[in-house]
Amino acid sequence: MPQRETYFGPWTLGDEALEALDQWLEVHRSNYTQVCILTDENVHEAALPHVLSGLAHLGESAVLEIPPGESSKCPELLSQLWIAMLENGMDRHSLLVSMGGGVVTDLGGFLADTFMRGIDHILVPTSLLGMVDASIGGKTAIDVGGYKNLAGTFAQSEGIFAWPPVLNSLPEAEWRSGWAECIKHAFLQGGDLWDACQQVQSYAEILPLLPALAMAKVEVVDADPFELTDARKALNLGHTLGHAIESAFGGGVSHGDCIAAGLWLESCIAEDLGHLKPSHGQALRTLIDRWWTIHLPLPAEVNAYLHGDKKNQSGKIRFALPAGPGQGIVLTEVPAGIVKKALAKYV
Ligand SMILES: NC(=O)c1ccc[n+]([C@@H]2O[C@H](COP(=O)([O-])OP(=O)(O)OC[C@H]3O[C@@H](n4cnc5c(N)ncnc54)[C@H](O)[C@@H]3O)[C@@H](O)[C@H]2O)c1
Repeated sequence: MPQRETYFGPWTLGDEALEALDQWLEVHRSNYTQVCILTDENVHEAALPHVLSGLAHLGESAVLEIPPGESSKCPELLSQLWIAMLENGMDRHSLLVSMGGGVVTDLGGFLADTFMRGIDHILVPTSLLGMVDASIGGKTAIDVGGYKNLAGTFAQSEGIFAWPPVLNSLPEAEWRSGWAECIKHAFLQGGDLWDACQQVQSYAEILPLLPALAMAKVEVVDADPFELTDARKALNLGHTLGHAIESAFGGGVSHGDCIAAGLWLESCIAEDLGHLKPSHGQALRTLIDRWWTIHLPLPAEVNAYLHGDKKNQSGKIRFALPAGPGQGIVLTEVPAGIVKKALAKYV
């Protein structure tokens, strides 16, 4: 079972991860005055009972349930949850367990990092995207005023426990959404992982690749925990346009579907600027088009949101463009005309 001490906390992925979490609770539960489990309605219904049945040492705990979806990553819900935690007996010596997809772990991380100036936190990712991406690397976030991840922290946790059997109840659209980030990791890593991902024909075939896909992110974030060098910026591949598209849709389209479109578009831009070989760009677009057979009808507001991206410096639009499988990224400004050309090609 892949296990690793990471800068942001011990990370475990595999069929024994639930048992590993229970062993952790056996040792540490008595240190905590109270435990709250943050989850969303879908995970509560489809997966929580299954997970809880494997946690003999959890003891008494309270469940805080939020509505599913990106709109829950908001300041209003955050302040309601601070109060709910207080009303459920949480204090500075309590533990928050975030059990859900990236929305729950992003929000839960921010909640734990700010409640009474910070309490201990465990992450149990339950979506594909959560397991290979959102739960790894310590970034917490909420969206504000329509801007994705505008407020957030880098936070350490007591542990990240990814237990793949929980994916049995994940809806097909969410597999596709998570698959976009998997494709990004595989392209960044190159080599065997990129070759293997190009061969995948069904979601079940992703499962054996999960450890390598998640480890690809673990290695990048551990090399650059606070995104101070270009190493971690590589993870922004596909995200400059992906986030702008997600914001422009106002939450109606999944994160991964927007990232798939962002990867497609940014490969065109990289090619146009001479940073990416056409054959590599085409391979990436062919793989994306195989899984996303219909392109998104992009709203006109994409451009406006592009200018609000956190990576921009002095009002200029900065991209992390693909340089080739396993060849990292090129961080560069992109003229508005080149972005427009890529958008026209996508339509
Ligand atoms: N912190 C980071 O480094 C990082 C990285 C990538 C993405 N993210 C964030 O992650 C979020 C997207 O994550 P996501 O795609 O997991 O979205 P999500 O949390 O909304 O989960 C997707 C859907 O799947 C459901 N679901 C999750 N697990 C389930 C299960 N086992 N069974 C049944 N239903 C299940 C959820 O209820 C939800 O409806 C975005 O907000 C994005 O910004 C964060």
